[in-house]
Amino acid sequence: MKERLEALKQEALQELSAVGNQQELNELRVKYLGKKGPLTEVLRGMGALSAEERPVIGQVANDVRAAIEAVIEEKQATYTRLETENRLRAEMIDVTLPGRPSQQGAVHPLSKVIQEIEDIFIGMGYTVAEGPEVEQDYYNFEALNLPKDHPARDMQDSFYITEEILMRTQTSPVQVRTMEKRKGDVPIKIICPGKVFRRDDDDATHSHMFTQIEGLVIDRNVRMSDLKGTLLQFVQEMYGPETRIRLRPSFFPFTEPSVEVDVSCAMCKGSGCRTCKQTGWLEILGAGMVHPRVLEMGGYDPKEYTGFAFGMGVERIAMLKYGIEDIRHFYTNDLRFLKQFLHV
Ligand code: DAH
Repeated sequence: MKERLEALKQEALQELSAVGNQQELNELRVKYLGKKGPLTEVLRGMGALSAEERPVIGQVANDVRAAIEAVIEEKQATYTRLETENRLRAEMIDVTLPGRPSQQGAVHPLSKVIQEIEDIFIGMGYTVAEGPEVEQDYYNFEALNLPKDHPARDMQDSFYITEEILMRTQTSPVQVRTMEKRKGDVPIKIICPGKVFRRDDDDATHSHMFTQIEGLVIDRNVRMSDLKGTLLQFVQEMYGPETRIRLRPSFFPFTEPSVEVDVSCAMCKGSGCRTCKQTGWLEILGAGMVHPRVLEMGGYDPKEYTGFAFGMGVERIAMLKYGIEDIRHFYTNDLRFLKQFLHV
């Protein structure tokens, strides 16, 4: 029995010395030390031994078991260490590598300018109104005193969807919608920002889609001087306190009288430069006293109420404020352009 144990030990140690990986080691552990292994079997057979032999063989069996266990343990320690090392190597992070900066989004310059204009008018007691971009011919033209055969419709080539529905060419239809909604109540003091659409060929100063802000005030005793004071206040907050305006007679079907409003050139302060074509003035908006016909169609008695209205192109206001030379920059989303407005 002693020889059998010795042989078992030799065999086990030899097999263990050739072990190549964790799995083989596990298999050998089960093979030699497991419940069904030869060592267990030998120990089970000890009952048949004599009382003198039993402790001797028992000692040998324990030694053999200890020797095998020691080798397995040693191998196991090596595999555990290797595994840890491999995992650490695989998970290694080089903290000295430069990081990838995350891209930061920002408010689009047009949205910024709209917000700025809204803030100025909200400060004067206005509220913001909105209307649909797909509009009825009635609101876009008819109720603004532009009947079907009116020559002024030629000023605006339109995208028609049906005979009666089109992409709005201006934000002025919100004037009529607001009057209808307010049903004769005063005062009305609204501004309306939004997209408008025209069949223009796109170039540095034209776009088939652009942004307007409409203003409308209706109350008793609203006068032209109120319009002028309001617009002066607006441009001085927008372009600086030294900014001046001038009103030139003009024509819009929905206002009478109508004016074109110029602002003193923000670039040269009025002394004349390339931006203002040496005139010192830049045209920024159209305005006027709401036409009695428009008041009437909106449900307001022109004998009792008067009002003023104005409309401006947001892109143009922004271009003049920031010296942007091409309107298309606003829509092409070139990050080199957009990034310049991160901190303005
Ligand atoms: N809707 C005009 C346009 O698109 C701008 C305008 C001019 C609006 C005079 C007004 C106004 O409200 O009174 O050219």
